[in-house]
Amino acid sequence: MSGPLISVEDLKVSFDTDDGVVHAVDGLSYQVAPGRTLGIVGESGSGKSVSSLTMLGLTRSPHATISGKIMFAADPERGPEDLVSMNDDKLRRIRGNDIAMIFQDPLSSLHPFYKVGNQLMETVLAHRNVSKREARDRAIELLGLVGIPDPQRRVDQYPHEFSGGMRQRVMIAMALANEPKLLIADEPTTALDVTVQAQILALLEGLQDRLGMAIVIITHDLAVVAEIADEIAVMYAGRIVERAEANKVFASPQHPYTWGLLKSIPRLDSPRGEELVPIAGRPPSLINRPTGCHFHPRCPYVQEDHKRLDPRLEAVPGDPGHEVACLLEADVRARIWAGLASGQSPGELRPLAAGSRPSAAARAAPYPQSEGLSS
Ligand SMILES: Nc1ncnc2c1ncn2[C@@H]1O[C@H](COP(=O)(O)OP(=O)(O)O)[C@@H](O)[C@H]1O
Ligand code: SF4
Ligand SMILES: [Mg+2]
Repeated sequence: MSGPLISVEDLKVSFDTDDGVVHAVDGLSYQVAPGRTLGIVGESGSGKSVSSLTMLGLTRSPHATISGKIMFAADPERGPEDLVSMNDDKLRRIRGNDIAMIFQDPLSSLHPFYKVGNQLMETVLAHRNVSKREARDRAIELLGLVGIPDPQRRVDQYPHEFSGGMRQRVMIAMALANEPKLLIADEPTTALDVTVQAQILALLEGLQDRLGMAIVIITHDLAVVAEIADEIAVMYAGRIVERAEANKVFASPQHPYTWGLLKSIPRLDSPRGEELVPIAGRPPSLINRPTGCHFHPRCPYVQEDHKRLDPRLEAVPGDPGHEVACLLEADVRARIWAGLASGQSPGELRPLAAGSRPSAAARAAPYPQSEGLSS
């Protein structure tokens, strides 16, 4: 029996700024088992990057307040250790070794003045006691592994000699240099066109099968995680608002925000004439978050109560492993989604939400955490 490789427990990250306190991550919890893929999805500014940078100690600063735990089980002998409270030196050894990260913009992580091969060798040498010769062989092997043609020659080229897609492959090679147990991929395909994006996702999946690593993939695009994730967590305003196995999120999504994300993915089988609508309104300020349900100012199904009561993540009745933070009753959500899936508009379906009673637990315990104005 193996436990989770990583277990994030009630993680909170806030930043003190001149404008006020930014609540970037507010009570995030999730687990990922070895060899599995979690997709974290949400619009820009929902706290996705901050949550993963925090894993690697990269948000630590005098202005940041971090609480909660990130239990990482690199070594079954040692048992899980908390990355939040781990000292910098120890965390540095984990970074790039047991946990590796690829970012959206490869140029921010590849140095323009050094040959790609030397940068790969440096990563290998930083964590492994091998000769330069062996490190170079490993660099060539890695370039081959990520599908770069002619790696013997390419190893001596500079980043600008690679196309965008090929640079992203180099980034992946760099991340995999020391066979990490966990790969965090933050918008790894956002800058790429659709064809190259599909190639990179297929590459990641193939490498995962071969190397057995767990992956946390972060994206604003549900279509990306549809390809690759076993489980999906939808983030809004620093929290998870829905979580389930990937197929369930697509088959029976529960949260109005998830519905909005799904309706903004182009589909070949969409009813004719149906428009792709991005979610109306803007992502909320994380300094003055809306009261009650943080999604309420943008939600077509909002009820008066929802401006006051803050829904927590709760199990969806009759659907083990599926959780949602929405005050509508489960059968009301099911009827609204059925309508949306058959092409009805939110406006037509809004009356179904009227009179839906929040669960007793939600009524009894409104969170006192929201500080903004209700709208
Ligand atoms: N170092 C920082 N200081 C202040 N605010 C920050 C800092 N880093 C991120 N933020 C803010 O935290 C929020 C979440 O950011 P981020 O995690 O990057 O969002 P995402 O990756 O989902 O687009 C944003 O409002 C962002 O401006
Ligand atoms: S609780 Fe209300 S406002 Fe929030 S997502 Fe559910 S229906 Fe919308
Ligand atoms: Mg980000």
